[in-house]
Amino acid sequence: MSIDADALKTELLSQIEAAPDLAALDGVRVSALGKKGRITAAMKGLGGLDPEARKATGQALNAVKDALAAAIDARKDVLETAEMNTKLEAERIDVTLPVRPEQRGKLHPISQTIDEVVAIFGAMGLSVREGPNIEDGFHNFTALNMPPEHPARQMMDTFYLKGEDGEADMDRVLRTHTSPVQIRTMQSEKPPIRIIAPGRTYRSDYDATHTPMFHQVEGLVIDKDINFGHLKGCLQEFCDAYFEVDHVPLRFRPSYFPFTEPSAEVDIGCSRKGGELKIGAGDDWLEILGSGMVHPRVLDYCGIDPEEYQGFAFGMGIERIAMLKYGIPDLRTFYEADVRWLKHYGFAPIEVASLERGLTP
Ligand code: DAH
Repeated sequence: MSIDADALKTELLSQIEAAPDLAALDGVRVSALGKKGRITAAMKGLGGLDPEARKATGQALNAVKDALAAAIDARKDVLETAEMNTKLEAERIDVTLPVRPEQRGKLHPISQTIDEVVAIFGAMGLSVREGPNIEDGFHNFTALNMPPEHPARQMMDTFYLKGEDGEADMDRVLRTHTSPVQIRTMQSEKPPIRIIAPGRTYRSDYDATHTPMFHQVEGLVIDKDINFGHLKGCLQEFCDAYFEVDHVPLRFRPSYFPFTEPSAEVDIGCSRKGGELKIGAGDDWLEILGSGMVHPRVLDYCGIDPEEYQGFAFGMGIERIAMLKYGIPDLRTFYEADVRWLKHYGFAPIEVASLERGLTP
């Protein structure tokens, strides 16, 4: 019997190359080099050859064995890499994909509106101050020229905390407006003062236009030569920027507040034709804020000389201007914590309101 090592090599090598996957390759390996494999069988057959041929064929078979083992290793590498690539492709996760929009949280219109207000007045050079929600009688009333008998102090309008005797503690009141932040700022800072104070306020009210907790933003500018013209200019700038209208008509109506003299309520021009509210056009008016020149007595209470300094102040309802700008009809819905409402009226949280990039995302 003769053994053709070359033919065996060619045949097995082509089987190795043709193996489509790792399992098939292993099949080829077993059929060539396994216990009952072709090469093993041929080795066993060497005994039947004459000594000369046995030596030559034995060497040739060993060389074939090495060549096959090397070819199997190489093919294995190729197949493993291919397998890995297929797997990577199939199980791929694209970490660069943006978050799906429906999973994003929304910013409440109150937060958005406060951000817008801060951005606009910030650009005019006013900075933000805060004060406590639980105020004392001096800051919430007395220093604002509201003496103890003033009607705003009555319990039907105002929330007082209970004192140790179980009675209302007149010195622990949920602030009824943001105006006490005026007092705190004037007590702790020297003029010139240019600030706004957005925050929560509380009154004992509940209907379509009143909730027991609501928000205001206070404005205060104190310097040596501030006059009513500055107040008008400041509010005009604000309304144009906030409502994104070229020149919002403003009406200053004479009014009364104990802490300003003279005082004015400010209306913006609008139209309500066909039930649709449009800001900045038409012959209707909507009240948005109270304002005036800071009363000399208030300056006095805060240790600022009214002969040397004067200034203007204003207080605006945040919910009010949010409802007007974003067409939200009922104030009470702001505080129902309904995610469907928030989904509809809320804002993208990533973009921050700024005059340069636009107020609304
Ligand atoms: N504090 C007033 C209120 O809550 C609003 C107000 C009016 C604030 C006139 C002011 C102002 O600073 O000058 O009704």
